Amino acid sequence: MKRKIMVTGGAGFIGSNFIHYIIQNTDYEVVNVDALTYAGNLENLKNLTDEKKHRFIRCDICDKNSLKEIFDGNEFSGVINFAAESHVDRSILDPSVFIDTNVKGTLNLLQLTMERCAGRFLQISTDEVYGELKTEEEKSFTEDSLIKPNSPYAASKASADMLVLAFNRTFKQDVVITRCSNNYGPYQFPEKLIPLIIYKAMRMEKLPIYGDGKNVRDWIHVNDHARGVLLAFEKGKSGEVYNIGSRNEKTNIELVRLILKILGREESLIEFVKDRPGHDRRYSIDPSKAERELGFKVLNDFDSSLRDTVNWYQSNKEWVDHCITGEYREYFKKNYSPKEAI
Ligand SMILES: NC(=O)c1ccc[n+]([C@@H]2O[C@H](COP(=O)([O-])OP(=O)(O)OC[C@H]3O[C@@H](n4cnc5c(N)ncnc54)[C@H](O)[C@@H]3O)[C@@H](O)[C@H]2O)c1
Repeated sequence: MKRKIMVTGGAGFIGSNFIHYIIQNTDYEVVNVDALTYAGNLENLKNLTDEKKHRFIRCDICDKNSLKEIFDGNEFSGVINFAAESHVDRSILDPSVFIDTNVKGTLNLLQLTMERCAGRFLQISTDEVYGELKTEEEKSFTEDSLIKPNSPYAASKASADMLVLAFNRTFKQDVVITRCSNNYGPYQFPEKLIPLIIYKAMRMEKLPIYGDGKNVRDWIHVNDHARGVLLAFEKGKSGEVYNIGSRNEKTNIELVRLILKILGREESLIEFVKDRPGHDRRYSIDPSKAERELGFKVLNDFDSSLRDTVNWYQSNKEWVDHCITGEYREYFKKNYSPKEAI
């Protein structure tokens, strides 16, 4: 029998890369449920290796009645929830949509997956639920680290995680959570650090860097994340959380300098701007449990994959240009006005 899964948020950055990955490497059929917010882009799903294994349905996960129809019309053997409002800066400007999608939307999916016996529910979470590490010396986050989110985005993701685990404990629902570090790769909306820097550096524009640029992030290629998610979905133990990361910490300024070097641009483009309120200092993920229990292994070497990523944005100018429209422009002006430069 063919295996059909629901993937939500499949028109976004990680969801679309995940769909490319599983269509190419497995026999799953995918029903992709996405509201197409500013971050959802169906151009991400052009050139799937087998179009017949993918069906797109535009639907907001907050709209439970429409979701019900999708569950009623399909026999799913699992649900993987990537759909989310995902940008910390936006959550500072307006947290409410983060609670709607990330918390209430997740609740709708959990309930329907349980009621319709739609198999395992996998929640895509983030390392940001653990809050921040303050120094280089502090140990990386494990699955047992305290949940101490700092931004409204991270708080909404932590709330969803708590609900998912509560459904496992209370209703014995088959759930798994993955918590991944910062992703990079193709199809990332150019408001996030790496595509934003590439876009602006290519146009010789100033590169806005928050604070002193010494915030540390732990970078993983999106395809490694996709492989980790599939492993957790197929081999993870119900009720468990798995960290996914690649032990690859970089300060923001170090990362920006690497990108400038690849592009052959001057460091004088860098411009430090007023820090983000509540900006977490360091994230660092310990993926030992996923390595031990799921056989997870990182395959993408950072230096060459970063180079490939820069090349991808250089050769897909049309994709980038299509993203730079409407709401994004307004938001961009609001967030990176020269007044904020210090
Ligand atoms: N980007 C990262 O580095 C990173 C790291 C760890 C975890 N995550 C998590 O991975 C998931 C995907 O992140 P991303 O970077 O691909 O995000 P993204 O913003 O690129 O994509 C989000 C997708 O969800 C869709 N969406 C938003 N609200 C919706 C709603 N109400 N109903 C249906 N669809 C909706 C959007 O249209 C978009 O296609 C998120 O859950 C995020 O928390 C991201």
